[in-house]
Amino acid sequence: MERLLPKLKIADPDGHDLVEIKSQFPAGKRSIWMEIGFGTGEHLAGLATRHPDVGFLGCEPFVNGVAALLSKVDAAALHNIRVFDDDVRLLLPRLPEASIERLFILFADPWHKVRHHRRRITVSKNLDAFARVLSDNGTVIFASDQHDFAAWSLANFLDHPAYTWTARCRADWTEEPKGWITTRYQRKAREVGLDPVFLTFRRCMRSCVTRGGKVLNSPSDQCI
Ligand SMILES: C[S@@+](CC[C@H](N)C(=O)[O-])C[C@H]1O[C@@H](n2cnc3c(N)ncnc32)[C@H](O)[C@@H]1O
Repeated sequence: MERLLPKLKIADPDGHDLVEIKSQFPAGKRSIWMEIGFGTGEHLAGLATRHPDVGFLGCEPFVNGVAALLSKVDAAALHNIRVFDDDVRLLLPRLPEASIERLFILFADPWHKVRHHRRRITVSKNLDAFARVLSDNGTVIFASDQHDFAAWSLANFLDHPAYTWTARCRADWTEEPKGWITTRYQRKAREVGLDPVFLTFRRCMRSCVTRGGKVLNSPSDQCI
C-alpha cells in the first residue's frame, strides 16, 4: 500500500483543476474505462489483465478494498490501473468531458430505506455527471442483485435524455454479458440464491438532436 498507492493514485486529487486522465497512464492507451466502488478489485484487475491497451480508473474509498486491489496489481504486474481512493463524486466534476468510454457500477450499495434513496449512486444528479464524462456511444454497465434498487435505477436511466437501454430481450438483462468477471458481492448474492440483473446503457451522441428536443430512449427510435 505505502509503496504502490502513491504511484497509482491519480495525481493532484485535491486540486480544483481538471484531471487530465489520459496523461496519468503510460502512452498508447486507446481509451479509459472506469469502475465505481470496485470493492476488493477482482473485476477491475481482471479487466485490466485482459485489456492491456485500455487505461482503468478505479474509485473506492474503502481502504481494505484499495489494499486488496493493490496486491492484485502487484502480483500481476499491471501497469494500466490508476486509483482514486475517495468518493467518486469528488472526482467526477474534475474529469474532462467525454473522457471515459465505459463505466462499471457493480453491486453498489442499495440504500433500501426511502429516506436514504438520495445516497444511491444512480440518483439523477450522478447520471448527469456520468453523462458528461462519458464519450458519445460510451456505455454504463450496472449490475445488482437488489431488484428494487435495480428497478429504481433503470427508471432513472430511462428518464434521462442522455441514455438508451440496450436490452432487446429478457436474456439481455438476466444473463451475464459475454466474458463477465464475477465480483465478490455477486458471489455472495449467489450463495444466498439471489439472481442479479445486468443493465447496459449507451450514452447518446451529443450531436443527436431528436424529435421534440429530447433524446429518445428506445434503441429503435430514429435520431433526426
Ligand atoms: C456493495 S460493495 C460492492 C463492491 C464490488 N463492486 C463487488 O461487486 O464486489 C459497494 C462498494 O462501493 C463503494 N462505494 C460506495 N459509495 C461510493 C462512492 N461514492 N464512490 C466510490 N465508491 C463507493 C463502497 O466502498 C463499496 O466497496
